[in-house]
Amino acid sequence: MTAILEIRELSKSFGGLTAVDRVSFDVREGEILAVIGPNGAGKTTLFSLVSGFITPDSGSVVLEGAPITGLKPPAVARRGLARSFQIVQVFAGMSVLDAVTAAALLRLPLNEAIARARDVLDDIGLASRADAIPDSLSMQDRKLLEIAKCIATGPRIILLDEVMSGLTLAEAQVPLAAIRRLRDGGITFVMVEHVMPVVMSLADRIVVLNFGQKVAEGTPEEIVANQAVRDAYFGEDMDA
Ligand SMILES: Nc1ncnc2c1ncn2[C@@H]1O[C@H](COP(=O)(O)OP(=O)(O)O)[C@@H](O)[C@H]1O
Ligand SMILES: [Mg+2]
Repeated sequence: MTAILEIRELSKSFGGLTAVDRVSFDVREGEILAVIGPNGAGKTTLFSLVSGFITPDSGSVVLEGAPITGLKPPAVARRGLARSFQIVQVFAGMSVLDAVTAAALLRLPLNEAIARARDVLDDIGLASRADAIPDSLSMQDRKLLEIAKCIATGPRIILLDEVMSGLTLAEAQVPLAAIRRLRDGGITFVMVEHVMPVVMSLADRIVVLNFGQKVAEGTPEEIVANQAVRDAYFGEDMDA
């Protein structure tokens, strides 16, 4: 299978702390890859390095065969990589439609961006909330908005940072269905997720980080069966 994203020996330290420590893995075209690990393991920093928000100390990132290491976020986004934020970010006074339109402006002039934003909202089931202020949305709809903003940029690959956190398993079903549908439409996903039943049901493969290092990589079955992973990082949570 072709790798859409190649992460090689990526490292980043903050002062004395190595947040991401020589991490390497491939993301295969069309897969849903989950990145898991305890708080502070380096998951969000890894996403920031790949998407250009932080420059790595060393290592490389290759997107569809072209190096993107050190490129700024808009340049990375134009090459087809979108990234959601763990903390939902909204500008004061913006409606849901405005927020998605702003994302669509990456590739489109304003009129087309508005039309594209409406299509994306329609597609993801948020059309009726287009004029709402994002703060007024339910937690579930906020998660859908985060995904909608990514989609609006016209990506080939999306990095989602804990988009299911704060949702019950029942509430997570709507964003989960949206992600499956988008994947079937050809978009590749890398997701940081804590909710293990979600990870197990959605991910094709899993990468496990701890203290900045990759400690395991494999199918959900392989990761569940990995005694070192169970003992050290998840205990009984893996059966949840
Ligand atoms: N900008 C920063 N400055 C200093 N330390 C940071 C910064 N960002 C992250 N860290 C530290 O790097 C480690 C990894 O953080 P993070 O990538 O957010 O982990 P995760 O997303 O897996 O919870 C943590 O110890 C965190 O405190
Ligand atoms: Mg994080």
